[in-house]
Amino acid sequence: MSTTRFLTGITPSGTPHLGNYAGMMRPAIAATRTPGVENFYFLADYHALIKCQEPERVHRSTLEIAASWLAAGLDPQQVTFYRQSDIPEIPELTWFLTCVTGKGVLNRAHAYKAAQDKNHEAGRDGDDGVSAGLFMYPVLMGADILLFNAHKVPVGRDQIQHIEMARDMAASFNHLYGEHFTLPEAAIEDSVATLAGLDGRKMSKSYDNTIPLFAPREQLKKLIGAIVTDSRAPGEPKQVEGSALFQMYQAFATPGETAAMRQAFAGGIAWGEAKQQLFDCIDREITPMRARYDDLMAHPEKVEAQLQIGAERARAIARPFLQQLRTAVGLRPLTAQPQAAKAGKADRAQLPSFKQYREAADGKFYFKLVAADGRLLLQSTGFDAPRDAGQAIARLQKEAGALQALAPHLAPVEGAGPEEAAAALRALAAAAE
Ligand code: TRP
Repeated sequence: MSTTRFLTGITPSGTPHLGNYAGMMRPAIAATRTPGVENFYFLADYHALIKCQEPERVHRSTLEIAASWLAAGLDPQQVTFYRQSDIPEIPELTWFLTCVTGKGVLNRAHAYKAAQDKNHEAGRDGDDGVSAGLFMYPVLMGADILLFNAHKVPVGRDQIQHIEMARDMAASFNHLYGEHFTLPEAAIEDSVATLAGLDGRKMSKSYDNTIPLFAPREQLKKLIGAIVTDSRAPGEPKQVEGSALFQMYQAFATPGETAAMRQAFAGGIAWGEAKQQLFDCIDREITPMRARYDDLMAHPEKVEAQLQIGAERARAIARPFLQQLRTAVGLRPLTAQPQAAKAGKADRAQLPSFKQYREAADGKFYFKLVAADGRLLLQSTGFDAPRDAGQAIARLQKEAGALQALAPHLAPVEGAGPEEAAAALRALAAAAE
C-alpha cells in the first residue's frame, strides 16, 4: 500500500483564534502524526489577495499564521510546509486547468454565486465589484491540489464543491492528455469541536466574538471573564447544555476534568469560579505555545527559513511534474520528437469512455460507458455519493471481470450485450497499460 497524501491550504487572513485552534489546527496537527500519511500544508497567500488588497495585512497575516502553526506543534519534518507564492508551478498549472474548465462550471461556484446574489438583491449588476480572481478561485485551488496529486483534502464543508471541481478538472485533463492526475477527495472531520464565542454564537471573525489564540495572558483572562452566562447565582445548579463556557472547558480539559466540571455545574459552582478554572485549563495548554509564538514573531527569519525549506521540498516534486505536463499539452522544445500518441486524444478517440454525471431529477450520481461512435454500452443505477460511482468505474477500468460483481448497480442497456461491454472494458484496460 502506498502512502496517502493529505494536502490542505490555509488562507492567511486575520489572526487565528481559539475556535480555529480547537476546530482545525489542533486536529490537523494531530493528523500529521498518523503513520502511513504524507502531509502538505501550505499558506494560500495567492488566495488571500482575492479578499485582501492591503499589502501590509497580507504580509503580517502570513507571518502570524505561519508562526501560529509552528508554535502549535506543526513539525516541518513531518509536514511539507510551504507558501503558495513560492511555488511558480502553481500559477502555471492554474492556466492549464483554466483551459480545461468550463466557464459555466465556474459560474456555479458557491462563492461567486453568493456575490452575484448579493448584487442582485441590492439591485446592482451581478458582476459589480466581483474580480476575475474571485471567479477563478476554484481553478487556483484545483492547481494547489492537483500539482501534488493529493488523495485527501481536509477542508470545511463549505469547500466540498471546490474539491469536486478539482476532481472534474483532473478528469478532463486526464481524458485529453493521458493519466497525469490523481482524483482528489475531500476529507471532512465532523467530530471536532466548533467553539462558541464570547456571545454564545459560533466563534467567528465575522461575529467579532473571538478570543485570539495567542492573546497575552491578562487579555485571555479578561476575555474569558466576558463569556456570556445566565444569571444563576452561586449555589444554584447550572446547565451544561448550551453553555459556551462548559463547551470551551470540554475542548481543553481531560475527560476526567470535564466530568468533574459537569458535577460542579450540577452542584452550583459560581460562574466566577468556573471561569477561573476555564482560564487555568486553557492557559496550561497555550502558555508553552505562546512562548514559541512570541519568539517566532520576534524572529521572522526563523519562520522564513522553514518556509524556504518547505518550498524546496515541494518544488522538488512540482518542477519535474510540471515539465511532464508541459510536454503532455504540447509545450515542448521545437527539436523534440513527436510523442507516441499512446495516451493522447487521437488514439483515445477510438476507445470507449466513461462519463460521470449527476441527475438533476433525483440528485444521484451516475456513470455510463459510451463507445467511440457514441453508442451506450453500460448504464449505472444511481449512487448516493460521487465517490461510490467513481470507485465502481475504477474497478471496471481495472478488469472487465468486475462486471459481474457490479451487476446490481447496472441497468439493462438496449442493443448492447454484456459481451460487448466486457470487450470494450478489455480494450480500455489494454490501452492503459
Ligand atoms: N479555499 C480554502 C479555504 O478558504 C483554502 C485553500 C486554498 C485550500 N487552496 C486550497 C484548501 C487547497 C485545501 C486545498 O479554506
